[in-house]
Amino acid sequence: MSSVQYEKDQDNIVHLILDKPNANANLMDQEFTDSLVEAVEKLENDDWSGVLFRSAKSTFFAGGNLDDLYATTRENAHVLHEMVDRLKVAMRKLETSGKPVVACINGAALGGGWELALACHHRIALSKGVTLGLPEVTLGLLPGGGGVVRMSRLLGLQAALPFLTEGRQFKPEQGKKLGLIDEIVESPEQLVESAVAWIKANPKAQQPYDVKGYKVPGGTPNHPALAKMLPIAPAMMRDKTKGTLPAPESILSVMVESLQVDIDSAMRIETRYFVELVCGQVSKNMIGTFWYQLNEIKAGAARPKGVEPSKVAKVGILGAGMMGAGIAYSSACKGIEVVLKDVSVENAEKGKAYSQKLLDKKVSKKRLSAEQRDATLARILATDKAEDLAGCDLIIEAVFEDRGLKAKVTQEAEAQLAPEAIFASNTSTLPITGLAEASERPEKFIGLHFFSPVDKMPLVEIICGEKTSDETLAKSYDFVLQIGKTPIVVNDSRGFFTSRVFGTFANEGMAMLGEGIPAAAIENAAFLAGFPVGPLAVTDEVSMTLVEKIRNQTIKDLQAEGKPYPAHPADAVVDRMLEANRPGKAAGAGFYDYPANGKKHLWSGLQECFGGKAEFDLGELKDRLLYIQAIETVRCVEEKVLGSVRDANIGSIMGIGTPVWTGGILQFINQTGLPEFVARAEVLADKCGERYAVPALLKDMAKDGLTFKD
Ligand code: NAI
Repeated sequence: MSSVQYEKDQDNIVHLILDKPNANANLMDQEFTDSLVEAVEKLENDDWSGVLFRSAKSTFFAGGNLDDLYATTRENAHVLHEMVDRLKVAMRKLETSGKPVVACINGAALGGGWELALACHHRIALSKGVTLGLPEVTLGLLPGGGGVVRMSRLLGLQAALPFLTEGRQFKPEQGKKLGLIDEIVESPEQLVESAVAWIKANPKAQQPYDVKGYKVPGGTPNHPALAKMLPIAPAMMRDKTKGTLPAPESILSVMVESLQVDIDSAMRIETRYFVELVCGQVSKNMIGTFWYQLNEIKAGAARPKGVEPSKVAKVGILGAGMMGAGIAYSSACKGIEVVLKDVSVENAEKGKAYSQKLLDKKVSKKRLSAEQRDATLARILATDKAEDLAGCDLIIEAVFEDRGLKAKVTQEAEAQLAPEAIFASNTSTLPITGLAEASERPEKFIGLHFFSPVDKMPLVEIICGEKTSDETLAKSYDFVLQIGKTPIVVNDSRGFFTSRVFGTFANEGMAMLGEGIPAAAIENAAFLAGFPVGPLAVTDEVSMTLVEKIRNQTIKDLQAEGKPYPAHPADAVVDRMLEANRPGKAAGAGFYDYPANGKKHLWSGLQECFGGKAEFDLGELKDRLLYIQAIETVRCVEEKVLGSVRDANIGSIMGIGTPVWTGGILQFINQTGLPEFVARAEVLADKCGERYAVPALLKDMAKDGLTFKD
């Protein structure tokens, strides 16, 4: 069966109807390629006056088949290469046929779908429900179906950059302003009517770049203005990617190279870079994690089966501080009624004002109407009365990190709750099982660990205490998805998964400083490894007062369990910084100085405190930051804090800042190779200490030739 139906209407116009058999979306795969090639051959032997592409699905066209791309290796890459060549030749034949070809875009046209539309002479889109763009770069790929070549020629190098190197998506309105969409209509019927009318009015059609004398906007790379910019463009890109992401670099190369040759050569250049990226490790990492694993999470992989789906209509939030205010905002934006409680109405109002600030900003940027803002704000009740919590389906506690206080607010809230309501703590460090002791219904008690700033951070770490029921977990999972965030599920442990692994990263940076390694080298090693922030900067954000507080609590807890505290070289660094009265960013002084009117910079006193003249190997510093996270993650797997590889990978990237190119922290071990990872960790353990000791689980897996997978 064909993926493209060929129908000719009474006006001698051929409708190429995109309709992949037995699928709910159209894909750019072998089947489609065969079908399109066949359709184009048929057109070559037929008499017709125009072609219109339309979709029989609710979306126009979904893009490349990721299953095929994921399975492509260097050994079988020629199959993909040939397919892409055939596809491009067919699209090129259509656009150079001399007769009009129109795309009727009825729904999302992303990736391959937008590339197909670009190969048409005229693009008409429905006003609603259509998203356009080339998001390939977000999976470590480039648009290999002519997308880079055509966008660069149509928009010009500079204007096309964000759509290609960042994968920026756009709506028809914006597409029209860019000149990429020609008409916007209101109904599917109008799509076809307008297409037919345009074909009749334009019996001859050519792509602008095929018209003799066409000038690419902004010029080709040898235009003086561009020639000045081009030498610095790779450096600017490197500044962002630190050389860890090959896709944006390849895209830039294709853009520049393709604009200097004829279009057929340009297409060949694009295909070669595309196939190279498909075969590379980074796209495998990114597709594996951001496509397969993230989709599994969204589909409820860790959600207990057999529990009815649920929705939260009203949420109570205790504590209107930084976290409580953020959770209130995220909930209210999704239509949930919020009771925001603090010790005084004034405090609670301050928390609500945070939502006002964020919403006002959206209104000023025209991303929200004033009515929508007011309706969202009206959903938040700022109060100091526990009685207002009555009727809540879920309570989230975000008061100070203090066991006694948390116990008190738990009991106060529970007194107001219906029997089926559940209670969550947003603690960042305190074990949930212990906190649940204050509850009358520990099976309805759970941890919901949000990240700061809540409105921007996509992850929520769900922590099950010993007594947390499946039903409570399922309800919490549903809530996290309801507010548009990504849940990972972990078991109880000091620091759970994310704080624990994050702590090893921050501590390792401080340990390096204590060894006399220059602070700038430490921070740069983190950037070059692909971390978004350096370990010293991030410790400043958290504040060393808090680090010390957590350490003291840990010492106390371990003492109570009769266990020794494993001293860390970072401890002395924290103590020295606190002694110097430099606890972090909030105080305006930490590892960095924070001048009122300038950019932060490393504190000049660091050398005096820690030396800063030791020899170092940059590669080793990068390895240390990655390996220490990876080893702690394996410990979490060994101790069953983590139950799945996908949660480790997604949680590490979205919650901890593990570099995106790795595809997550366990995938980092996979791609290194388990035996190779073990060997390197042993070298680091000899040099830096026991904290690099390889967990038995990892040694066994390496011996047995296993990798981390669910
Ligand atoms: P915060 O200090 O900004 O806010 C705490 C709020 O709780 C204050 O407004 C305080 O007035 C209020 N409060 C105190 N007693 C109360 C009571 N009896 N009833 C109602 N409200 C009361 O603290 P933040 O940063 O928002 O942290 C809150 C919780 O979230 C802590 O457990 C913290 O460990 C956790 N957390 C913090 C993260 C962060 O990045 N700051 C990240 C993840 C979790």
